[in-house]
Amino acid sequence: MTSRVLFVCLGNICRSPTAEGVLRALAVREFPGLELEVDSAGTANYHVGDPPDRRSVAAARRRGYELASLRARHIRPDDLQRFDYVLAMDRANLSELSTWPRHAGSAQVGLFLAFAPDCGTDEVPDPYYGGQEEFERVLDLCEAGARGLLHHLSAG
Ligand code: 4NP
Repeated sequence: MTSRVLFVCLGNICRSPTAEGVLRALAVREFPGLELEVDSAGTANYHVGDPPDRRSVAAARRRGYELASLRARHIRPDDLQRFDYVLAMDRANLSELSTWPRHAGSAQVGLFLAFAPDCGTDEVPDPYYGGQEEFERVLDLCEAGARGLLHHLSAG
């Protein structure tokens, strides 16, 4: 059965597209039998239609992940019905989602890093006003979260 995963951050140009690209690539490389649909969206609409931030694209590319074809979109209420997991990068993103109506059978909504309990934090910090180190940190955390999520999905 296909698992549908949506990653959510503020702008959908740094953290959530990174998580999307990393999860998709690690699934193919490390869990080839797993059927996944992966997407990402932002709680803000500032960057709708834009590709990921060039610093995210460059940092991901250095580790073998390709993000350049992704485009930002705004989260929609029906995302909570269409996806099995809606995973927020930080508590501010999560609290935006918690105000939306939920129906029976709707997504499990939570923090992405709940799937990486050993990484020392449960939020992926916003790197937008940071430097290369902050973008590398996003990748480290997305890799840890993606591996944890993949183990969870493959066990279930
Ligand atoms: P993201 O990062 O939420 O990880 O995509 C941000 C991107 C843009 C802005 C803030 C955070 N912004 O204020 O434009």
